[in-house]
Amino acid sequence: MTDTVKALAGDVADLGLAAEGQRLIEWAAKEMPVLRLIRERFERERPLEGLRLGACLHVTSETANLAITLKAGGADMRLCASNPLSSQDAVAAALTRAHGIPTFAVKGEDSARYYSQIQAVLDGEPQLTMDDGADLVAELHKGRQELIPKVLAGTEETTTGVVRLRAMARDGALRFPIIAVNEALTKHLFDNRYGTGQSTIDGLIRATNILLAGKTIVVCGYGWCGRGLASRASGLGAHVVVTEVDPTRALEAVMDGYPVMPLVDAAPHADVVITVTGDINVIDRIHIDRFKDGAIVANSGHFNDEINLAAVDEVSVEVTAPRPFIQSHRLRDGRTLHVLAEGRLLNLAAAEGHPAAVMDMSFANQALCAEYVAKHHESLQIGVHDVPNEIDAEVARLKLHAMGIRIDALTDEQRRYLSSWQSGTA
Ligand SMILES: NC(=O)c1ccc[n+]([C@@H]2O[C@H](COP(=O)([O-])OP(=O)(O)OC[C@H]3O[C@@H](n4cnc5c(N)ncnc54)[C@H](O)[C@@H]3O)[C@@H](O)[C@H]2O)c1
Repeated sequence: MTDTVKALAGDVADLGLAAEGQRLIEWAAKEMPVLRLIRERFERERPLEGLRLGACLHVTSETANLAITLKAGGADMRLCASNPLSSQDAVAAALTRAHGIPTFAVKGEDSARYYSQIQAVLDGEPQLTMDDGADLVAELHKGRQELIPKVLAGTEETTTGVVRLRAMARDGALRFPIIAVNEALTKHLFDNRYGTGQSTIDGLIRATNILLAGKTIVVCGYGWCGRGLASRASGLGAHVVVTEVDPTRALEAVMDGYPVMPLVDAAPHADVVITVTGDINVIDRIHIDRFKDGAIVANSGHFNDEINLAAVDEVSVEVTAPRPFIQSHRLRDGRTLHVLAEGRLLNLAAAEGHPAAVMDMSFANQALCAEYVAKHHESLQIGVHDVPNEIDAEVARLKLHAMGIRIDALTDEQRRYLSSWQSGTA
């Protein structure tokens, strides 16, 4: 197959799954009313007409609804996976076959195929990049610099991607503007907190089918994802322990009612440990040595380096797979340690990622930011930018409207009062 033919056909597990994928996409669409409103407007106004868009996102039924919206706005787009384990093969097939969006994503692919798919998206010479974790932008800057002058701007979906891109900007390496969709309130307050909270528990239960009530679950990192995960685990009756490195976040966890301690102290008591930090080797050899027999470790942070898997391998004498997404390591001293989903995002690998209702808001931000870039790229400086406030507010307004919830409006008197300093103690 020539490269061009391969590019148009995408790279999916089985195009025969397209009908099943279409049903999943339509099911998710029911919970994505804000994106639907945007799509209807995009169909009329075509704000992305002719824009070449390269997206590297988790290929799920919710992402499919975003891709369809962007195409309805006129974008000429290609999509690849942002993680080797998170793709839904049926959805990838439906996007490629039924929607004419070349998709490059196969669940369980190896690293070489993952990166070749990113290259296939870059072959489309994107003018707008849409990333989740910044692998697309990093590959573009590392090996495809000749394409950079064609890029108008990019968007980034997740905390880890924003952290990476800010590091690139600090090093003077970043060469086009990026809008940090993750930083929108209507993204991280809901997607990272309620989405990751619920779907990580979903992944844990689907992978293991353990009862959470009465278990000790250690949540590493009390950021947006960690807060959601801790509250959901606690709601199911688990004893939740939090570990942190940031004193303010640690204090917040204490006042939210959780025991907080170093992981090395929590490790011997943990039935389950889940990392959601965006950091490296959070679970390291020193912790592995202290886990009790039968402990379960998993990660829901972006990259698969939060658990030091090389250190686990070092002390393993045998690895078995009692169920999908569980690798049980028998350790030299006779204990067993269960690692879920190869340390990759548990919620996307073992479950289906976030429910559509939260992705509705995240992807509404993505779609509106794509439109913003199409209109305003000339005035955007190189660097990482926040989502414009009016987009954030519009997404919240549309979501409330779709939920049938009305709120109060400021009176003229209140508006004047809130913007003045003259009146004080009455
Ligand atoms: N699974 C998903 O679907 C999903 C969704 C959104 C974000 N994410 C990813 O989850 C990760 C966390 O995102 P967030 O928005 O909560 O970030 P955040 O910055 O709000 O929180 C991360 C927290 O981890 C803490 N931390 C860092 N190193 C630590 C360590 N060694 N031990 C304990 N705590 C540590 C930080 O102090 C911070 O409070 C990122 O990688 C992000 O990209 C995943």
